[in-house]
Amino acid sequence: MSRQDDELRESVRVRYAAAAATVTEGGASADCCGSGCRAPDAVQIDTNFGAALYDAVDRGALPIQAVTASLGCGTPTAGADLREGERVLDLGSGGGIDVLLSARRVGPTGRAFGVDMTGEMLALARDNATQAGVDNVEFLEGTIESIPLPANSIDVVISNCVINLSTDKPAVFAEMARVLVPGGRINIADVVAEDTLTPAERGERGDHVGCIAGALSFTEYRDQLAAAGFAEIEITPTHAVADKMHSVIVQAVQPGGDRG
Ligand SMILES: C[S@@+](CC[C@H](N)C(=O)[O-])C[C@H]1O[C@@H](n2cnc3c(N)ncnc32)[C@H](O)[C@@H]1O
Repeated sequence: MSRQDDELRESVRVRYAAAAATVTEGGASADCCGSGCRAPDAVQIDTNFGAALYDAVDRGALPIQAVTASLGCGTPTAGADLREGERVLDLGSGGGIDVLLSARRVGPTGRAFGVDMTGEMLALARDNATQAGVDNVEFLEGTIESIPLPANSIDVVISNCVINLSTDKPAVFAEMARVLVPGGRINIADVVAEDTLTPAERGERGDHVGCIAGALSFTEYRDQLAAAGFAEIEITPTHAVADKMHSVIVQAVQPGGDRG
């Protein structure tokens, strides 16, 4: 990793550590994607990001701190078709909202893992799991470029507005392919740019820690997933987050297994 990438990752970690502290101290959600992390006294609701995107029933079933900690750009559990007994991995799990929702859907015979590099977020997520009374969850410290789980150990990879923050997306996609079982699938919410936007134009629309400047284009996303071995790739826009930039749901399958 270059020194510049190192510094970028550290600025992401510092920003999300501050967001976790805001929630832990009882502040409202400090949204980071979109309009950038804000001080607790300057929080505004951004309907493109965070808890507002979730179904009211899902929100109501979780501790308030898990809901206010939500910093994603979609609802990756909604279309993931999670089944009893499955093992789910959330990349960049933050305060844990999608891990907790997954844990409920896969039931006691399944398991939901979250990986995050920010200690403050992991502490918040573990606290939220305790408050929710959910015990088929595990929050692991690590990076999504080097996932601390064995190969062929996961049925479904989800993520919510994190892959755009990575400085090495091919490594993330290769790691997703490594941990998934044959026939395993991904259901990921992320920010993607229209193919006509140059990297400089993406940078004009928002910064890296705000989930905008680091976004791939549709074609780049598809090509990098295919290079990592994924099949049946579908990238579906859900809502615009900036001019010619969209929140999307990315679905794909690891070849092999029953699904082919
Ligand atoms: C925008 S927040 C999203 C959190 C959560 N997915 C949600 O929807 O609320 C990004 C999270 O990803 C984590 N993160 C960012 N880059 C990461 C990386 N390279 N490896 C592991 N975690 C990362 C941050 O610490 C932060 O918790």
